[in-house]
Order: sequence, then C-alpha cells, then structure tokens
Amino acid sequence: MNFDRHRRLRSSAFMRDMVRETKITKEDLIYPIFVVEKDDIREEVPSMKGVFQISLNLLEEELDAVKKAGIKSVIFFGIPKEKDAEGHGAYDDNGVVQEACRISKRLHPEILVILDTCLCEYTDHGHCGLIDPDTQDVDNDSTLPLLVRTAVSQARAGADIIAPSNMMDGFVTEIRKGLDDNGFSHIPIMSYGIKYASKFYGPFRDAADSTPSFGDRRTYQMDPANRLEAHRELSSDLEEGCDMMIVKPALSYLDIIRDVRDRSDVPVVAYNVSGEYAMTRTAVDMGLLDEAVIMEQMISMKRAGADMIITYFAKDICRMLDEGME
Ligand code: PBG
Repeated sequence: MNFDRHRRLRSSAFMRDMVRETKITKEDLIYPIFVVEKDDIREEVPSMKGVFQISLNLLEEELDAVKKAGIKSVIFFGIPKEKDAEGHGAYDDNGVVQEACRISKRLHPEILVILDTCLCEYTDHGHCGLIDPDTQDVDNDSTLPLLVRTAVSQARAGADIIAPSNMMDGFVTEIRKGLDDNGFSHIPIMSYGIKYASKFYGPFRDAADSTPSFGDRRTYQMDPANRLEAHRELSSDLEEGCDMMIVKPALSYLDIIRDVRDRSDVPVVAYNVSGEYAMTRTAVDMGLLDEAVIMEQMISMKRAGADMIITYFAKDICRMLDEGME
C-alpha cells in the first residue's frame, strides 16, 4: 500500500501528547474584572453567567480567588458612581479602576494589572470620546489628551500595562509620549488597535453600563467585513510604538489573529469577548455542548497565533487544567 500513515502519530495518548503543537497554560490567561465604585455590590451580570460586578470593598475576596486559581494577570473595567459628558471618572486619580489597581497591588503585588484606557464607561452618552456638537460624532483630536491623562493616572496607580481600547487615530503615539514625559517609559502599551464594531460586545455593555445613548461606534471601530484595514491599523500601531497587539473579538476573527502573527513580531493578544463567552457558557450550561469546547476554543485562538487570551473563562480553564484537561 502506497500512502501516508498519519494515524501512526495518533496511536496513543502518549504519542498524541508528544506531538501536540499547541498548549494552554495559566500564564496565557488574562481575567477581566468589573469593579463598581458603590459599596457592597456583588451582582451577576444577567447576560454573562458566572461573571460579576464587584464593589471595591469586596474586591479582596475576588482577588484571593483569582490568585488561588492560578491566574497571573487581570484587566479591570470600571463602573463609576457618576458619569458626565467628558468622562472625568476615567482620568480621576482616585477613579474606580485606579483604586482597584491600588487594592490589587497592595494585596497581591505579583498579579499583573492591565488597565483599559477608554472613556466609554465614564461618559454619560456612552461613546469612547468627546462628542463634537456639530457632527454629533466623536472628535478624535480633542479626545486624545483625555486618553493621555487617563493612561498617566492609571500608570500612577501602579498599572503594569496600559491597554488603550478607544480606537482614536494616533492614540499610541500620544499615550506613549504622555507616559514617557511622566516617568513611565518602562510601562508597555498593549494596543487594542484592531477592534471591530462588533455585536459580540453586547453583554459587556450590560456589565459596564456603556451602551451608547445614540448612534453606534462604527465611525471609530472597524467594519467586520474588512481584513486589509486590520493590516493598516497594525502598521500604524507598530510604527507608533505599541508593545503588544490585541485582536478583538477573537473567535470570528481568527484569520485576523493569524495575519497579525504573520505580519509582526510583537506578542499577539486575543480578546475572547463577552458575546463569545455568553454563547459558549449558555450552550455548556444547557447541556448542549461538552465543557471541553471551552478548551477547544482557547486552543483555536492560540493555534491562530495568539500568545495570550483575555477571557471570562479564565477561572474555568484553570480548573480544567488542574483536572488534567489539555
Ligand atoms: C471599551 C471596551 C469594550 C470592550 C472592551 N473594552 C466595549 C466596546 O468597545 O463597546 C468589550 C469587551 C467584551 O465584549 O468583552 N471600549
């Protein structure tokens, strides 16, 4: 018989383990946490079972659980007490994520803290920047200084990594300069520069109370139909000096993750977003799919080229890894 015997390398668990090309480790995982400025709240997000909005005064318990699970890094999203048109809460030195970062650094200094640099959770209109009264669209250049202030206050609070997700043009250049000028040249920028205008963010907007009160984000986030546009965004961000690149969402955009891997040498981060979490969580909880699909999805993102994954499943994955699943 004259054909290839591919099954030789699949013949036993030992053999399969030996030739496995992609592995998930706890170091790959970044866990998002929603922190609330009001006291005594620990509320499950209705569209994201297993994910909670947690008050600063109850954060300790959550961080202990994160530490115990073996998660090495977290990203905080804030739900401020008050919102206004300019998103002041985002660049308040005592703002909700700045405080969360300080609490985390005091309790568990070794947990890496990433902060999301955006205004949408802090503006009363829910957009990611200042609204131009004439066009009713987000104004790029007047928003940039506020993003810089946000990033600097986040670095001052002790953030290890700044992750700007606002999709204004030039944000990496401006934030890099702002960080450098304020003594934070050692803090890396993990850019969300490839961020699609996706319906998969729906549950996040429930969790962070950040749905735009009018219009949508299509004048600043990318059209899901476009691939070359991602290449252009990547080129700009690399030129502007980003240290890592996020692709978001992840599972419907594995081709884009692969492109970023092939076209750059920076670490690539997949953001397994809220809608992706909600779909899989629901299917698993309803018994329609085996829980192992969660691991299969993580493997898929890494196989596509991701080095790290921001995922609401981080705790579940740690447990599965502890149970020996691969
Ligand atoms: C802030 C931000 C969003 C997400 C992360 N950072 C919301 C948005 O752009 O609408 C979404 C994450 C998720 O869906 O899990 N701009």
